[in-house]
Amino acid sequence: MNNLLFITKNEGKVREIRELAAPHGITIEQVGYEYPELQADTLEEVARWGAIHAAAIFRRPLIVEDSGLFISSLGGFPGPYSAYVHKKLGNKGILKLMSRIKDRRATFKSVIAFCDGSSEPVIFSGSVEGEIANKIRGKNGFGFDPIFLYGDKTFGEISRDEKNKISHRRVAFERLIRWLLEHRDVQTI
Ligand code: IMP
Repeated sequence: MNNLLFITKNEGKVREIRELAAPHGITIEQVGYEYPELQADTLEEVARWGAIHAAAIFRRPLIVEDSGLFISSLGGFPGPYSAYVHKKLGNKGILKLMSRIKDRRATFKSVIAFCDGSSEPVIFSGSVEGEIANKIRGKNGFGFDPIFLYGDKTFGEISRDEKNKISHRRVAFERLIRWLLEHRDVQTI
């Protein structure tokens, strides 16, 4: 079985990526190393820089993932600042910011950077469209899941299996797998 290094401290992301990787015969080895996050305007830049930094340290092919919630009526906020905003405001804070706003459209975006240490990182992205709910709903998932409405349920109300069928992370990860199948011997990622 192949093994792919995933550099992240976020256990929620690891659980999802592990389940997405398993059907492809890939196991995920997590390293809870906190690489310095570049203060940048795009997830792509943050992920690319993180992958270069981590590959120089671990000297093995690896992935990092940067993701975020982009709220249309707030000009895409919190976007690349999602982790910080979630820590400071939480889901309650976002609902408060949105309390008088009618346009509740939002997008989750995931960017995965793969780096083997010898060439430029390769970037894969995925997104899913939804809305900001009116209240916190459900206990599943992590981060903004309980306020991200997809159809009539929030990501906090659906199982990990269901989320993994439609999520931003799934789209980005499947793009990575397709690329690996084309460009690498997947037996020896
Ligand atoms: P980062 O990718 O480590 O910078 O963190 C992104 C932040 O966005 C996380 O701390 C979560 O709060 C949020 N986030 C990213 N992906 C998801 C998701 O799938 N569900 C809920 N929140 C997410």
